[in-house]
Amino acid sequence: MSGVSHTSPHEVIVARDADEAAALVAELLGRAVVDAVTHRGAARMALSGGTTPLSAYERLASLRLPWSATTLCLVDERAVPPTHPRSNAAAIRTALASGSEKLAASRLVDPPHEANLEAAARAYEARLRGLFGVTEAVHFDALTLGIGADGHTASLFPGLGLTGVEDRLVVAVPEQPGLGLEARLSVTAPVLQAARLVVVLALGAGKRAAIAAARAPGELDTLPARILQSARGRVVWVLDEASAG
Ligand code: 6PG
Repeated sequence: MSGVSHTSPHEVIVARDADEAAALVAELLGRAVVDAVTHRGAARMALSGGTTPLSAYERLASLRLPWSATTLCLVDERAVPPTHPRSNAAAIRTALASGSEKLAASRLVDPPHEANLEAAARAYEARLRGLFGVTEAVHFDALTLGIGADGHTASLFPGLGLTGVEDRLVVAVPEQPGLGLEARLSVTAPVLQAARLVVVLALGAGKRAAIAAARAPGELDTLPARILQSARGRVVWVLDEASAG
């Protein structure tokens, strides 16, 4: 590790390389699982897709954790068939299955597949409410995020007005043909902000400007990752030299 700094309230860890970053993310998530199971009897975690976190998930699934008391959900999913190469569930399950702890991949809950995306969003929201219980707030013990060069996080993309959605746990995100993006489901800002631990993993120079902007004041809808400034839990950015700038 080449540097650790604490910029209240977020922590920034600068890893030497992608391997070290993956190991750090796995350790942060693993500790959160142990803490949750020890103190609350169960661990509930939400994982983002994208390419960067997959090796962290493989490492996580090699840790001897109380997997049978752990539930893994998705932060977001693309509107593609479950076995499609762009399916986050498929990619994450494959990464988890590469770990040595064989129970890990089986703990991943797929979001519902429905032809109607709005119906799928409602069904996924109902599933999350069921997981946390009707009387309990939806506080994930840990949640992972990435960030796009445009400042999106989860599937809350700029300019869609999604950062202002406060009365839903899950939203349907329309297709954006101009950007070549399929429609998606995404948990909303209140879910991200309520997590006990948020780990944001972002590597490479292409992310540097978005990370700096996400941590600076400004409009939420133009740079959705700014919603993390209102996170109530611990937020840890795991970066490399290139993304940290
Ligand atoms: C997704 C995401 C998305 C992702 C960022 C970063 O499903 O794509 O959850 O928010 O985390 O786009 O993606 P990379 O890690 O691939 O750069």
